[in-house]
Amino acid sequence: MSLKLFDLTGRTALITGSSRGLGRAMAEGLAACGAKVVLNGSNEARLAQAVDEMRAAGFAAEGACFDVTDETAICTAFDRFDAEGLEIDILVNNAGIQFRKPMLELDTADWQRVIDVNLTSAFVIGREAAKRMAQRGSGKVINIGSLTSDLARATVAPYTVAKGGIKMLTKAMAAEWGELGIQSNAIAPGYMLTDMNEALVSNPDFDAWVKGRTPMRRWGKPEELAGLAIFLASDASNYVSGQLIFADGGMSSVL
Ligand SMILES: NC(=O)c1ccc[n+]([C@@H]2O[C@H](COP(=O)([O-])OP(=O)(O)OC[C@H]3O[C@@H](n4cnc5c(N)ncnc54)[C@H](O)[C@@H]3O)[C@@H](O)[C@H]2O)c1
Repeated sequence: MSLKLFDLTGRTALITGSSRGLGRAMAEGLAACGAKVVLNGSNEARLAQAVDEMRAAGFAAEGACFDVTDETAICTAFDRFDAEGLEIDILVNNAGIQFRKPMLELDTADWQRVIDVNLTSAFVIGREAAKRMAQRGSGKVINIGSLTSDLARATVAPYTVAKGGIKMLTKAMAAEWGELGIQSNAIAPGYMLTDMNEALVSNPDFDAWVKGRTPMRRWGKPEELAGLAIFLASDASNYVSGQLIFADGGMSSVL
């Protein structure tokens, strides 16, 4: 066994929604293993700051500002990558939003928005990345699922459906793109300490529920996803495809 298996030197990774949170932590992990990272976000100023911080930390980083639901902007970004000779070897479809409301009160527009950001974006960006990966005969797609890829929870129906869809999109990509040299896998994080969960972390009842329900008795830290992202992005996972892997402190394994 050699650490070379995990070496990402010479590879370029695009991570969507990576100016903060889990996307940022995974970008830092991939960059620490030698990858050049292309950070993405829809807020130009926040993205520029994240790129500056990554560079100041000694990493090779660039920014690609686009909204993951804007197909025209996505295609323009990939055209720019082509023009600049930037080959995306690793795609992490991470951008996501949450919206909590009981289904009986849920507007169709809010349902659709959550599906568009969390699921359809992964298909569109995945397709554009995979077209280029296929020409080179190799590539890694990592989609970010959730505990709700497998388990439902009240008040988050569109998120649950989107993340369940991420699990099956990952398998569909593996089915169609395996022969092109592309592996597609998904990471399903448990309850992690990020801005998305601010309201839940500061709610004592919910905090106690998470800790009681998680065998490891704590929330996950964003940097604890990096190892799995590195594994799935690297040669160490070259015969792994179509899998959804939980990083959840054991929550999905217990009743
Ligand atoms: N935090 C958790 O406990 C948890 C658990 C399971 C899965 N996830 C998933 O992990 C991913 C990251 O979540 P996080 O906790 O870091 O959340 P976060 O809110 O901190 O980060 C999400 C990022 O996505 C970006 N984003 C949102 N909509 C976008 C759009 N339309 N275009 C471009 N960027 C957009 C945001 O600006 C932000 O940078 C999401 O897919 C989320 O569903 C999170």
